[in-house]
Amino acid sequence: MGYMQDVFSGFQGVPVTHSTNKRQGEVALVTGATTGIGEAVAYALADLGLSVIVSGRRIDRLEAVAETIRTKGVDAHVMACDIADASALEAMFADIRSKVGKLDILVNNAGMGYQSDIGDFETAELSLALAVNVTGAAICIRESIALMEHRPGTAIITVSSMAAHRVPPGGFGIYSATKHALRAIMEALRMECVKLSSPTKIASISPGTVATEFHKLFARSDKDPTEKLPFERLTPEDVARAVTFVLEAPAHVQLNEIMIRPIGQLG
Ligand SMILES: NC(=O)c1ccc[n+]([C@@H]2O[C@H](COP(=O)([O-])OP(=O)(O)OC[C@H]3O[C@@H](n4cnc5c(N)ncnc54)[C@H](OP(=O)(O)O)[C@@H]3O)[C@@H](O)[C@H]2O)c1
Repeated sequence: MGYMQDVFSGFQGVPVTHSTNKRQGEVALVTGATTGIGEAVAYALADLGLSVIVSGRRIDRLEAVAETIRTKGVDAHVMACDIADASALEAMFADIRSKVGKLDILVNNAGMGYQSDIGDFETAELSLALAVNVTGAAICIRESIALMEHRPGTAIITVSSMAAHRVPPGGFGIYSATKHALRAIMEALRMECVKLSSPTKIASISPGTVATEFHKLFARSDKDPTEKLPFERLTPEDVARAVTFVLEAPAHVQLNEIMIRPIGQLG
């Protein structure tokens, strides 16, 4: 399936395509796969023929995502885990090692944040954002590195944010700090892989505004404030296409940083 091909059946609003089996036998882990960008990425990887391990806290959502993946003719494994809990995360990787036996691709996508001023934030909310977006993501990288055979085709891809590249005004300081930290971690990882002559692709994808559940949590509101923006927001599938693009680049090509804004987004 080519980069631009995009076949959706419209069945219950879930994109259903059939795997090309191009990457049969390879296994990907997608964190934060219960919804939004992670869910779309899980389907895109299944469409490439990969088996997909889906992770997140909401087990019913993970089971539903796994069921859709299986309709594409590839394996899906459900691994429920709170990424903010370091020991649960380590136990999940031990399970991947014993039950699945290998890992070729990590898509480090789970993430969250709360809008707050630096002069007036809740300590617990700062701790949670750091635990999920930085500590959890870093542990996923470390454990994946230990599990992977570093051969061509392997990849560690982080769903970062435009907030990793500048600090948007309006209460983004803490969220932006976590994404800047993750950018530093990814750059250090890239250099370590060069030193080890590893062919693993290391990529961060930095979206602007994507239409997902993220914004209601961020604004602590039942209403998504980004619905009112004067431009068409990115879809999770727009971000998933960037993941596919990274993976389908020739073996010697490192797409380290991809920034994607919706047309019309100023900052
Ligand atoms: N939406 C945007 O505009 C935007 C822009 C730039 C970057 N991003 C980044 O994109 C990534 C995906 O976000 P999204 O927009 O798709 O938002 P989303 O729909 O809210 O999805 C967030 C995902 O992260 C998981 N997650 C959150 N906390 C977790 C925890 N403690 N343990 C395990 N999983 C956890 C959620 O699963 P459970 O709740 O089931 O655990 C969910 O699957 C995030 O890293 C976010 O920072 C989003």
